[in-house]
Amino acid sequence: MPRMNTAAGELFYTINEGPRDGPNLLLLHGAGGSRLHWPPQLRRMAGATVYTLDLPGHGRSSGSGCSTIECYARAVVAFIEAADADRAVVVGHSMGGAIAQTLALEHSDLVSALGLIATGARLRVAPAILESIRDDFSHAVALITRHAWGPEASESLLELGREALKDTGPDVLLGDFLACDRFDVMERLGEIEIPVLAICGTADELTPVKYARFLAQHIPDARLLTVEGAGHMVMLEQPREVGEAVREFVMVDR
Ligand code: COA
Repeated sequence: MPRMNTAAGELFYTINEGPRDGPNLLLLHGAGGSRLHWPPQLRRMAGATVYTLDLPGHGRSSGSGCSTIECYARAVVAFIEAADADRAVVVGHSMGGAIAQTLALEHSDLVSALGLIATGARLRVAPAILESIRDDFSHAVALITRHAWGPEASESLLELGREALKDTGPDVLLGDFLACDRFDVMERLGEIEIPVLAICGTADELTPVKYARFLAQHIPDARLLTVEGAGHMVMLEQPREVGEAVREFVMVDR
């Protein structure tokens, strides 16, 4: 697996090489996740060069994680520059979507479009989640798992999610959720001038459809896809539908 030495530490990623004149696609996972939170339909999308990153402190990347979205955004900027992947379509899930919005607002030259999956312009975190990560990590894993998946998600997917949270560990996980809790760009969405595709499952309990509607209503060039019955992990729960929507957005619509 390739790794990149950046100012933010050693970052691991996978790369799916596309045609030289094709678009760059960068996938950013959410809190407590890793590159494995993206299904093959996205990681191996034909026609694009796809970079799937482990954020600092996650998966196989070094570093200790961050407790602000700006800190993660700086790490991603360092990665984009080191990988020469500018003008990327950045697709972020949950916390990754907060990082993607920050890139569009603060580093618009590096980003050509956004996919905002199960995320919002403000991501307040329930105090019970923050407290459980501090006080009782196994309870936190159970609590987050209970709210992260839609009713039709299989036990094997839930187990994958639990393992990812345990691998992340309490310190990095707490930093991730604090970063989400502090994030708020609700007043700034009108400044995002690039095309945006927002996707949300109708059974998402962590970032409800209301958040995605708000994105679609306040970002000037945005469209919304709701995925019936899916929860917060919509891209793993309905990989074909989400993969096809993102592929069309990246390859056809723009
Ligand atoms: N987009 C649109 N509307 C949003 C929003 C977003 N991203 N974030 C908050 N709002 C709305 C809320 O729906 C609420 O509207 P209302 O007054 O009409 O009910 C209002 O803004 C204020 O909400 P919020 O800032 O979240 O504060 P709160 O004190 O009402 O609720 C929580 C705090 C933590 C209980 C609540 O945010 C929540 O249940 N969050 C989801 C669970 C969670 O922890 N998710 C993890 C995300 S990573």
